[in-house]
Amino acid sequence: MDRYVVFGNPIAHSKSPVLHRLFAEQTGQAMQYDTLLAPLDDFTGCATAFFKDGRGANITVPFKEEAYRLATQLTARAQRAGAVNTLSKLADGNVLGDNTDGAGLVRDLTVNAGFSLKGKRILILGAGGAVRGALEPLLAEQPASLIIANRTVEKAEVLAELFSDLGPVSASGYDWLAESVDVIINATSASLAGELPPIASSLIEPGKTLCYDMMYGKEPTPFCVWASAHGAGTIMDGLGMLAEQAAEAFYLWRGVRPDTAPALAHLRKLLAS
Ligand code: ATR
Repeated sequence: MDRYVVFGNPIAHSKSPVLHRLFAEQTGQAMQYDTLLAPLDDFTGCATAFFKDGRGANITVPFKEEAYRLATQLTARAQRAGAVNTLSKLADGNVLGDNTDGAGLVRDLTVNAGFSLKGKRILILGAGGAVRGALEPLLAEQPASLIIANRTVEKAEVLAELFSDLGPVSASGYDWLAESVDVIINATSASLAGELPPIASSLIEPGKTLCYDMMYGKEPTPFCVWASAHGAGTIMDGLGMLAEQAAEAFYLWRGVRPDTAPALAHLRKLLAS
């Protein structure tokens, strides 16, 4: 049986096994998918041992940069992201590193929500790994503008500069922004602390602006609550992105694209229970 794992630390609560087992069942693929807790100080040793006979792996916190260095080949989007969430053992023995997070986000927005990003004004909050992974796929949708806003403005400036060849991307502080945009994506980890980046509610055009939080939880996140209080047109959390990044990884490994809708419905039920 072809073996796949998700590496992380901690890893016990990962939803990846649920998703990939559902995808495998749905598409009739004979494969095994488990969690693998890698020691914080030896991801490389653990991953190298796994790939002696393992076929593929997902990588989550805190190993995405180490996985980037472990890969012997990289996709263009992983190279740009500087981080890898998917590893795939190739027939020639190479281990290919990919990053499907940003593609998952874009697919959730454009396919699941049916929202075209072309010509839109997008604001993304944060300037960490999550934002870096999302920039290339977002810019590929040809938005009118993409503003990266961050508490530490310098980090947003570095990212804007790094991706400036791909489209109209710029950096900002939170309190410089007032004019409404079409899409606001929260990619900060502020929700983890029950917090919200300090942005003006005038950024939301009531009934129109789409607000997307990469985080999710049993209850609506603080960002989703804020978006709702100010009349955002559409409000989404990151559960769809989670399902879509998994489906992209599954497609890379198996060459079959699973239907994410039943998996997403299942996850939503699990989260509520
Ligand atoms: P990730 O890989 O999930 O993006 P990260 O690289 O640690 O995680 O980045 C976390 C992001 O959340 C950063 O943009 C951080 O802002 P700073 O660069 O200024 O630190 C942002 N962040 C975390 N907590 C925040 C808060 N309470 N308010 C606003 N931004 C916050």
